[in-house]
Amino acid sequence: MTLCEYRPGLEGIPATQSSISFVDGQAGKLEYRGINIEDLAHHSSFLETAYLLIWGTLPSQPELDAFEHQIRYHRRLKYRIRDMMKCFPESGHPMDALQACAAALGLFYSRRALDNPVYIQKAVVRLLAKIPTMVAAFQLMRKGNDPVQPRDDLDYAANFLYMLNEQQPDPLAARIFDICLILHAEHTINASTFSAMVTASTLTDPYAVVASAVGTLAGPLHGGANEEVLEMLQNIGSVENVRPFVDRCIEQKSKIMGFGHRVYKVKDPRATILQKLAEQLFEKFGQDHYYAIALEMEQAVSEKLGHKGIYPNVDFYSGLVYRKLGIPTDLFTPVFAIARVAGWLAHWKEQLGENRIFRPTQVYTGERGQPYVNLSNRPHTWDQQKFQISLSS
Ligand code: ACO
Repeated sequence: MTLCEYRPGLEGIPATQSSISFVDGQAGKLEYRGINIEDLAHHSSFLETAYLLIWGTLPSQPELDAFEHQIRYHRRLKYRIRDMMKCFPESGHPMDALQACAAALGLFYSRRALDNPVYIQKAVVRLLAKIPTMVAAFQLMRKGNDPVQPRDDLDYAANFLYMLNEQQPDPLAARIFDICLILHAEHTINASTFSAMVTASTLTDPYAVVASAVGTLAGPLHGGANEEVLEMLQNIGSVENVRPFVDRCIEQKSKIMGFGHRVYKVKDPRATILQKLAEQLFEKFGQDHYYAIALEMEQAVSEKLGHKGIYPNVDFYSGLVYRKLGIPTDLFTPVFAIARVAGWLAHWKEQLGENRIFRPTQVYTGERGQPYVNLSNRPHTWDQQKFQISLSS
């Protein structure tokens, strides 16, 4: 085996072989199991897409019916999970609540029968079914309300919006939300998927796999960017302020949220679809003041940073869509997680098929052969920068 050079962020280093999704970052193409994302967004549903990702082929009608039926009847949460959620601080971030709840599922269902296809199938169904219920339940509970029970007569997307807003959604809103879930369902070996795969490779249970991925998705350089985009648009406030803001970011070398991607060097195809979805929503439910600011940002950033391949990524327009659907800003990333569970589970299943524990190497940069100095012989200094103890905290 030849050792390769250290590449920060593992850029360009293959860490797996996968047949789940394909990205062409230069041409701006994304395919799930070989099918173009535009075609899936146009013709498919989230659950059909999840089935495709996890089991590798589009389902037949009876297969899809059975899958949807199972998901529909596993949406409810154990009352102990709801009770546990009642103890969460209402000021806590919903991603932290979701990570705790996903991990807690392992307390109820873990048997680690990873060689049993029935166990695999049940874990897939439970996670896809229960994660949206958890997100909606936390939202209502932190407002001091009881969570509403899922409605068996509503499909996946409509039921989530119903549980969140306590009213049946408009059909266009539900369809657009379903397309958002398709767009966010999978994206090769990104940070959270890699996290899921590393956890999966230890042969732990799927609830731990998803919990670790949720924690990774939460960061502002990954799924958390969609929240920051909206905050950024709000802070900019008006179209006239856009160009000075972009210039300031470039001068200070600070990242502009919702732009740039490790793989895409052109506009992310999901951003293009999300932008169209936002426009459909604005047409039916009224304009959003921030859309004009977003358009000007895209123009300004493309002019100034396009030569570096910095264009809108999936997080740039998704917030504007979610806002119109009545989803609070700090639920944008949990909503991303609802969709990405499908991709994480597909990679979990693929990882189990040909598993080897992830154990990369490192380039050691520390000292060696140092003597152990007894405490009494060390200098009596206290570097407050290194370690601060505050009795009040
Ligand atoms: N704004 C301004 N400059 C940028 C941006 C940005 N958003 N993204 C990259 N650049 C610049 C960098 O400053 C760097 O410039 P240099 O060549 O002068 O050093 C160059 O482009 C390369 O940037 P890296 O940070 O090395 O790119 P990397 O592949 O490591 O990072 C990332 C990709 C994390 C997505 C980055 O573009 C970023 O931080 N974007 C903003 C956060 C964001 O929107 N994240 C969501 C990504 S999509 C997702 O995870 C679902």
